[in-house]
Amino acid sequence: MQIGTRIGTPLSASATRVMLLGAGELGKEVIIALQRLGVEVIAVDRYENAPGHQVAHRAHVVDMTDPQALRAVIEAERPHLVVPEIEAIATDALAAVEAAGVAEVIPAARAAQLTMNREGIRNLAAEELGLPTSPYAFADSLEQLKAGIAKVGYPCVVKPVMSSSGKGQSVLRSDADVEAAWLYALAGGRVNYGRVIVEGFVEFDYEITQLTVRAIDPVSGKVETYFCDPIGHLQVDGDYVESWQPQPMSPKALERSREIAHKVTEALGGRGIFGVELFVRGDDVWFSEVSPRPHDTGLVTLASQRFSEFELHARAILGLPVDTTARGPGASAVIYGGREERGIAFEGVAAALAVPGSDLRLFGKPESFVKRRMGVALATGADIEEARARARAVAAAVRPVSGGAAE
Ligand SMILES: Nc1ncnc2c1ncn2[C@@H]1O[C@H](COP(=O)(O)OP(=O)(O)O)[C@@H](O)[C@H]1O
Ligand SMILES: [Mg+2]
Repeated sequence: MQIGTRIGTPLSASATRVMLLGAGELGKEVIIALQRLGVEVIAVDRYENAPGHQVAHRAHVVDMTDPQALRAVIEAERPHLVVPEIEAIATDALAAVEAAGVAEVIPAARAAQLTMNREGIRNLAAEELGLPTSPYAFADSLEQLKAGIAKVGYPCVVKPVMSSSGKGQSVLRSDADVEAAWLYALAGGRVNYGRVIVEGFVEFDYEITQLTVRAIDPVSGKVETYFCDPIGHLQVDGDYVESWQPQPMSPKALERSREIAHKVTEALGGRGIFGVELFVRGDDVWFSEVSPRPHDTGLVTLASQRFSEFELHARAILGLPVDTTARGPGASAVIYGGREERGIAFEGVAAALAVPGSDLRLFGKPESFVKRRMGVALATGADIEEARARARAVAAAVRPVSGGAAE
């Protein structure tokens, strides 16, 4: 594929083909953005009728942690670009695909390898790059965990090295919490890996996602780094419930955030958008983690930027210029399933969309869980307070109900 110079016709010999590995709500938006640019898109997920499956040219159900199965779907579809949307992927197979020149991996196979495990990215950020992070230690047993806690002190946070969305993660305040935290982490890890990180708890004023785009500058023809306005967010049990943009910051804290984001994304390399998670207190900034892909808190950009993080990702990976201009204050609020059922329905949508400045995404997930993210409320406002209040009102108006209970 001639990056940045040519796009073919979908479903023809000239097609520019992109494969999404993971086709959830974030992948769905990337797929739509790619299709608007005339790209042929193949969506892969581990279950049928995933959100992205519903809007792609072709859909596959594959266990992406199985290296053979992953390699096989890539060989069968021969995409030009392979775009991971989730962490739980056989990243060694991606490295092999990249090394063999079968497809280009976004942003790069090494980035996917380093970020799927908290250990890889923490070592890169803290040791190789010397970025400020919470004090930390790794542990493979309860004994090692106790030794690690002796190093970082209380309060601290224990997390499985392979996990996301707060799974298996707990805050510890004293020795009495250690054993429960260890067992909880073991049960919550993505694979039964039995390794955890313990981090000193950072008493931050607020936390942000610094969306950072590595895209080709049309003037120099080289990869350049672009920043979106900082996104503030609220996490409950390790899962994001609200986000807003722009998060007000001191000039020094913003400068430090961007320095950190620049360094870590440059070290990961390639093209695309990254969500750099940072903790801020006063002018001090700590690196927390980074996703080499659109970030869930960045859903707000569907309302607050000229081009959403998904459109920016699509452009960057295709080698096209990006524009990170803000449109104005915006906010997002998560809509949870609230029930365990397949094929649920949503009521109150008209009332939700009657809120001024509002918008809505219902992801179309086939099965609802109490704590599954099924949609997101979006809103603009004169300032972030108004946008947040509106987004919350939109989310509250949407009511998940039984699919059989339509009136
Ligand atoms: N060391 C820490 N100090 C304070 N809060 C933390 C720390 N680590 C995690 N958190 C809180 O938990 C949330 C989720 O942790 P994170 O490491 O981002 O896990 P995940 O990969 O599941 O998103 C963070 O956004 C933050 O609110
Ligand atoms: Mg996180």
